Amino acid sequence: MNITLDTTLATVMETDCIVIGAFADAPLHKSAELIDKASGGALQKLIKHGDVSTDWKDTTLLHGLSGVAAKRILVVGCGEIEKLSSVRFDRICSSAGAFLRDHASTSAHICLHEIEVGDTTDYWRLRQAAVSLEKANYRYTVTKPPKDDDNQPLKSASFNADTDMQSAIEEARGIAKGYLRSMKLGDLPPNICNPAYLAETAMEIAKSYKNVSVEILDEDQMAELKMSALLAVGRGSVNSSKLIVLKYHGKDKKTPPTVMVGKGITFDSGGLSLKPGPNMEQMKFDMGGAASVIGAFEACAEMQLPINVICIVASAENMPGGNAYRPGDVLTSMSGKTIEVLNTDAEGRLVLCDALTYAQRFKPAALIDVATLTGAAVIALGHHASVIMSKHDDLAVELIEAGENAVDRGWRLPLWDDYQPQLKSAFADMKNVGGMAAGSITAGCFLSRFTEGQRWAHIDCAGSTWIWGGDKGSTGRPVGLLTQFLINQA
Ligand code: BES
Ligand code: MN
Ligand code: ZN
Repeated sequence: MNITLDTTLATVMETDCIVIGAFADAPLHKSAELIDKASGGALQKLIKHGDVSTDWKDTTLLHGLSGVAAKRILVVGCGEIEKLSSVRFDRICSSAGAFLRDHASTSAHICLHEIEVGDTTDYWRLRQAAVSLEKANYRYTVTKPPKDDDNQPLKSASFNADTDMQSAIEEARGIAKGYLRSMKLGDLPPNICNPAYLAETAMEIAKSYKNVSVEILDEDQMAELKMSALLAVGRGSVNSSKLIVLKYHGKDKKTPPTVMVGKGITFDSGGLSLKPGPNMEQMKFDMGGAASVIGAFEACAEMQLPINVICIVASAENMPGGNAYRPGDVLTSMSGKTIEVLNTDAEGRLVLCDALTYAQRFKPAALIDVATLTGAAVIALGHHASVIMSKHDDLAVELIEAGENAVDRGWRLPLWDDYQPQLKSAFADMKNVGGMAAGSITAGCFLSRFTEGQRWAHIDCAGSTWIWGGDKGSTGRPVGLLTQFLINQA
């Protein structure tokens, strides 16, 4: 989508659609007020009579309002002013975006950021509105191209703001690019998006920026590094595993990088510990962590942030097969620690432990892994928040605050050593499952054994990165949280 700034008055602006908001119990914002005046009070009257809903997120389309040059006006309900928050504001913008995507307008002029929201700045509201709009305008088309009679999504949007807000739009463009990359990767079917596809995507990104380089490690190279845990997971699949390493230099080479590690299981059948049939198709989203770190990395490169960032993706397909790893196998990880496999469906921690060991050669300023690691994360926090774990209180707080700012929230669970005994094994240094209790935490505890001495955090995005059921699809999360964290490092 082409996004521009334009201070042309809402009444004379020529566009397919002007987007304004309306509260149940507060005066109209600037552009809405102008439109109301030009139409001789028609807007206020429609609101008063209940023809235009002011319920939060409701949308009403008005046609041919007199005194207004635009073809249509979309009024988004803002609800009660008391209840307005940054989260509610974000949903107002996405509601507008979803409407515009599915209806006739291909250009729009957006005035929603005029609404005052708590102590947020104009900059933040403009940026957030642009990101929400871009996200809502996304439509998956790779294997289901739009039909001729389908409505086109938005092609261009202007925001009613001065050119001094251009940097907010640039930032939004970067963040949105990251989100769209992540959503598309998450939605692609597993027969297209396999480890090699993720590697090609990384190579494509590296080609687009002169300060980005990429290295793809194949199975032989990983075997040389003794990454037996990662390699075990991919052994049952004919699609060979890849370790993808993207490097971005926005600062001198001596500055320690922020390192992000993503779980890139392009399909998780469970392996020999096979998952049940129903919903198994959704396990293509098991590379949601990888998609997010790639997306946040691309956002950073697009914004050319003055930091160094490394993005590592541990990618494999978890399949049953003649050569598949088994329950009972004992694996020797790259770190030298041994792992007894009790369940081949707890594969994420196995690919991550070797990737996290590898990551330490870059001497990270912060090391963050992102993974659809446990179903227990969905049980704990549902779909509204990513699970954050860290032994470093400051890092946990930084991540939570970044999530708040980006309206891509995370919430912390403890990583206390009290949980460690659940990983005891009679035949190895640890087993790969910790039992029924605290499934997300014991997965975090497993990873903590491979990140000793590191400023490390773990994000379990199993609930946040994917919408289940009828409207199933990728949310791209937590690209917003990660990108804000990177912006804050700069
Ligand atoms: N990719 C899954 C996690 C998952 C499961 C996310 C369901 C969302 C919904 C992961 O590889 C997995 O299978 N984890 C197991 C671990 C268990 C065997 C210890 C789980 O959560 O059931
Ligand atoms: Mn699994
Ligand atoms: Zn998995």
